[in-house]
Amino acid sequence: MSPRYAHITGWGMAVPEKRLTNKDLEKMVETSDDWIVSRTGIRERRIASADQSTATLAVDAALRALAVANLHPGDLDLIIVSTSSPEYIFPATACLVQDQIGAKKAGAFDLLAACTGFIYALQLAAQMIKADSINNALVIGAETLSRVVDWNDRNTCILFGDGAGAFVLQASEEPGGVLTAVLRSDGSGGDLLALPGGGSRHPASMQTIHDGLHYIHMNGREVFRFATRVMSEATLETVEAARLTMNDVQLIIPHQANIRIIEAAARGLDFPMERVMVNLDRYGNTSTASIPIATCEAIEQGRLKPGDRAVFVAFGAGLTWGAALAQWSGPLPSRKRVRPARYRWLARMRSLLARLRRMIEGLIWGRGKTI
Ligand code: ACO
Repeated sequence: MSPRYAHITGWGMAVPEKRLTNKDLEKMVETSDDWIVSRTGIRERRIASADQSTATLAVDAALRALAVANLHPGDLDLIIVSTSSPEYIFPATACLVQDQIGAKKAGAFDLLAACTGFIYALQLAAQMIKADSINNALVIGAETLSRVVDWNDRNTCILFGDGAGAFVLQASEEPGGVLTAVLRSDGSGGDLLALPGGGSRHPASMQTIHDGLHYIHMNGREVFRFATRVMSEATLETVEAARLTMNDVQLIIPHQANIRIIEAAARGLDFPMERVMVNLDRYGNTSTASIPIATCEAIEQGRLKPGDRAVFVAFGAGLTWGAALAQWSGPLPSRKRVRPARYRWLARMRSLLARLRRMIEGLIWGRGKTI
């Protein structure tokens, strides 16, 4: 069998319209625009409206990515949603996306590796394609961290924003696509960045709410130290695994947490900042959504073109970190014209019919039992 490659053939992003600027935050906590810009580089972030959620943003990004790839949702074999702010503990947000886009033959699950999750999900999907298990995958990073941030805690509330980004991955015999990846973790640092409430250790109760365990808790300085160390290490490792050097890389698309962390990583690699994608000034830290969102904007700005090699690199809670190297390709040649926006409506009809069928079957079954 000839080797298979996992190409990134579609991309899409979705961010809420509502902007929260540093000036707005000055009215909420004791902080200043100057402090936030100089310590983080962030100027504003997007905040989900009441009718938006992790799943709605994920669906919007997914449909845009499918449109670019010209791929029908019914052709998807796998959907992975990477998120730390899922719609529910279960069912998985990926299953909600599967239903809402009508991906009727896709397996779907959520993956939690915090801000590194998109790298983990990308590598997983790519490996399944390369192993000939599947042909088409949808990898989504989606967050509504504004729902789990303590808006009275200036250490954290200035950092995070909401959004989603998605890639479509497809099998091809043409060399390229996701080339290498490194995935790492160190659970001994789990307490440095955590959302401890609502799980099996601290089930939701009046006490957990009173203690604020349903919010993000973070030791910013320690996370900062860890991040500056691992970002350059992981980048170099994934590039060397492909037997390449940093000269062979056209663009680094890092997790958008803090401009100082990104600059430290670039310095560590002796890599020019002009070839590092940065958009955190406008979105803040959207956690696992930040890399696909930054990728969409890099493409829009003409900074990532077919044939270019890009490194995606991230760190996050867990602790986790990782990087992936990809040779950019773009959509596979295809004659069919796919209009994913229509699928939302069709998928809703299909979902309603499935619920109706289940209801009728339940009634018949119930009557059968009483007879
Ligand atoms: N406005 C004004 N002052 C503030 C603010 C604020 N918003 N927040 C903290 N300060 C104060 C602190 O109280 C401290 O005062 P003190 O010296 O009197 O105690 C002072 O500013 C300096 O605080 P530091 O924590 O040392 O500030 P630092 O330069 O480290 O910046 C920051 C803080 C921005 C949080 C930085 O540490 C950072 O970015 N860390 C990484 C965080 C991160 O990326 N987290 C996400 C990980 S990804 C994921 O998995 C979700």
